[in-house]
Amino acid sequence: LLKYGVLGLVSNYGLSRLPAFAQSPFPLPRTLQVRRTDGLVEVQITAQQSHLILGGKPVWLMTYGGFPGPTLRVREGETVRLKFTNNLPEPTNLHLHGLHVPPSVDDSMALVQPGESRLYEFRIPKGSAGTYWYHPHVHGRVAAQLYAGLAGLLVVEGPLDALPELKEAEEYLLVLKDWVFSGDRIPAWTQMDWMNGREGSLLTVNGAVRPTLRAQKATLRLRLLNASNARYYRLALENQPLYLIATDGGFLEKPVELTELLLAPGERAEVLVRLSRPGTYRLQALPYDRGAMRMHGGMHSVMGDQGMGQGMGTMDHGGMGGMGDTGTMGSLMGMGATRLETLLTIVAPANPKPMPLPTSLAPIERLDPAKAAATRRLVLGERMMQAEFFINGRMFDPGRVDIQAKLGTIEVWELVNETEMDHPFHLHTYPFQVLSRDGQPAPYRAWKDTVNLRPNETVRIAVPLRDFGGITVYHCHIVEHEDRGMMGVLEVR
Ligand code: C2O
Ligand code: CU
Repeated sequence: LLKYGVLGLVSNYGLSRLPAFAQSPFPLPRTLQVRRTDGLVEVQITAQQSHLILGGKPVWLMTYGGFPGPTLRVREGETVRLKFTNNLPEPTNLHLHGLHVPPSVDDSMALVQPGESRLYEFRIPKGSAGTYWYHPHVHGRVAAQLYAGLAGLLVVEGPLDALPELKEAEEYLLVLKDWVFSGDRIPAWTQMDWMNGREGSLLTVNGAVRPTLRAQKATLRLRLLNASNARYYRLALENQPLYLIATDGGFLEKPVELTELLLAPGERAEVLVRLSRPGTYRLQALPYDRGAMRMHGGMHSVMGDQGMGQGMGTMDHGGMGGMGDTGTMGSLMGMGATRLETLLTIVAPANPKPMPLPTSLAPIERLDPAKAAATRRLVLGERMMQAEFFINGRMFDPGRVDIQAKLGTIEVWELVNETEMDHPFHLHTYPFQVLSRDGQPAPYRAWKDTVNLRPNETVRIAVPLRDFGGITVYHCHIVEHEDRGMMGVLEVR
């Protein structure tokens, strides 16, 4: 895997220079080397500045040693002792996105200073098999650090992975991320980026542009992560359904057949793909309008360090947005509405004979909203021109507790989006279930940690606050919005 990861990176260098790699192996994230003794897994992760080739060009990034970062693969019940070292010239830290571990460990307020290390020790909960990830969580710098490439997968394996229908499938980890560069650097954030969340028109899968996956088997299990700051991926496979088998927090009760799958920033999904005929299949991102602000006319007079000054064009939500080139203009145009893009080409094996689908996966506990200890309303709001974002009218304050809840209870949260833009709502520490959207019951039961809210939509979730208390946070996973205030503090005790 290590070898393939490196080759994948090299092959991006440009085929003309390296014709031997024309049939390059698919770029897989490399697997983190671990030391495993009696259920204890010891690993090291280092954040550093990296100079590497992305989309055929050399660029400066911040990474955990390449992009995507190395995948931490563990099993349910194991204890992980993770030594994290910060070799960046600025403070950072590590957030274990989606993992049900104590907030004292997954402490997003603790900083690791340059040159320093921190030990993260946690137990992988039983029943948590699924696809998670890690990334920094320094308030005010999350957008910059995540955008620069600080992201890696954390895969938890469990007993269900031994199901023949899953075991026989060929597994691929797919990290979706977009970029914008100015020369070999990531440019400074503009006011428009802070308002909308930054997108970039360079789309990559595992750091490669439109790679080709040559399948050995006719059933693929794709573990997908949206590691973009703000880009949404409305995924579809040409003429083929996707069979959703897991969401953020692990397996569904049975596969759900989908013609398309929306993956908001921070979300993960696992799908089975059945290649029933020889040939190629394209994994596409269909157009999606998340209601971001866009400019019309007057473009050139607007931009400047002072942000939204006079002389700006008119702005609105939605409508036709231009897709700029990589470069500053592209991001200034507010690319909230995406066009059709091919992310990945899959080549089926010669005589494909896909496996049957698993008939049942994990039983999922039914959370009874009638037994909720409290029902709360969390309203997402914005002051758009200032790029200020709120929950219940307030910007994030690390010294203030916004919600106090009782350990061992279940609560119902009513998430209300009073803005004209999508926001992916993310809660740390406690996986939840979506109950309904605008009064419509959820079509299937699933464990989630991030749920998208459409403009003016109300989503009800059931949150079991169990196993450990402490101080944790919830926020928008368009991380610019998090950096600009759309985050709150939850204390459970
Ligand atoms: Cu992936 Cu608090 O975030
Ligand atoms: Cu948001």
